[in-house]
Amino acid sequence: MDFAGSHILSVDQFERADVERIFAVADRMEPYAHRRRVTKVLDGAILGSMFFEPSTRTRVSFGSAFNLLGGEVRETTGFENSAIAKGESLYDTARVLSGYSDVIAMRHPAEGSVAEFAAASRVPVINGGDGSNEHPSQALLDLYTIKSEMAGRGGGIDRLRIAMVGDLRYGRTVHSLCKLLCLFDGVQVVLVSPGELRMPADIVEEMRQAGHQVLESEALEASIAHVDIVYSTRIQEERFSSQEEADLYRGRFRLNQNIYTHHCEPNTVIMHPLPRDSRDHARELDDDLNDNPNLAIFRQTDNGVLVRMALFALILDVADQVDRHARDVNWYTAGRF
Ligand code: CP
Repeated sequence: MDFAGSHILSVDQFERADVERIFAVADRMEPYAHRRRVTKVLDGAILGSMFFEPSTRTRVSFGSAFNLLGGEVRETTGFENSAIAKGESLYDTARVLSGYSDVIAMRHPAEGSVAEFAAASRVPVINGGDGSNEHPSQALLDLYTIKSEMAGRGGGIDRLRIAMVGDLRYGRTVHSLCKLLCLFDGVQVVLVSPGELRMPADIVEEMRQAGHQVLESEALEASIAHVDIVYSTRIQEERFSSQEEADLYRGRFRLNQNIYTHHCEPNTVIMHPLPRDSRDHARELDDDLNDNPNLAIFRQTDNGVLVRMALFALILDVADQVDRHARDVNWYTAGRF
């Protein structure tokens, strides 16, 4: 695809070569994301950051990524702080904010809303999550992490064995990740969820059409025994009609160190898009895994900055200029990465 000026709304728009291009640019962002070098390639550019649902990682890492390329960020969070609360349409909001920004990152609770907004925007829009539909930048950072973790184990994304666990019905990260995996070869996927929260049938069918082996299960321990990656997800309580309904499923599939030790292969990578639900009645990924070297969840969050920097660099067509506008940092940076 031609990235320059493009919206990023769904992983459906990518070919395998596009994903590999994003990853190659992300690799080159490492000295900047890890604070050894500073670049001002986006000096003067403005990111409009509009998050109408709660977010820690996606919102802040999009902002950090833009700052690390030398740009500025203007934010709106929550409907209550936006004129949408006064009845303004997405069309008008997009027309207005795209006059103030060079690129926009947006999260919204309604499926298809970011695409509707993008259709009226005068600048590129990146989908930071639209309801339970898609979260393309998360899927990219997840796949970038999988590639990196598997490389350290002598493998790759082709012929990956992965178990996805939890709320596969409403979890937009797993929807986008499954679709992205369809660009690769010979993947074995085990989908572990309560029957009511199964992966949508069209996504399962898309994976089968791609030649992948897909199994669906409600048995955690047997399902994680022979996989390279366990990708755990939170019960998406915000998509349920009540907390009581979400409580029916919370805590159903818990991975902790004891289960990991007894059922997983020794080097199985543990992933989660975060936030994990650390309340006692949930704990889908227990804190007692925190010292497990195969727990990749914070490598995922760090990789989010690299991947989002790459998306900005490609969309704003500066990927080949980043190093020309760079210098070493002045401050002490050792030990964080
Ligand atoms: N993974 C993710 O989307 O996290 P946030 O909700 O904190 O952005």
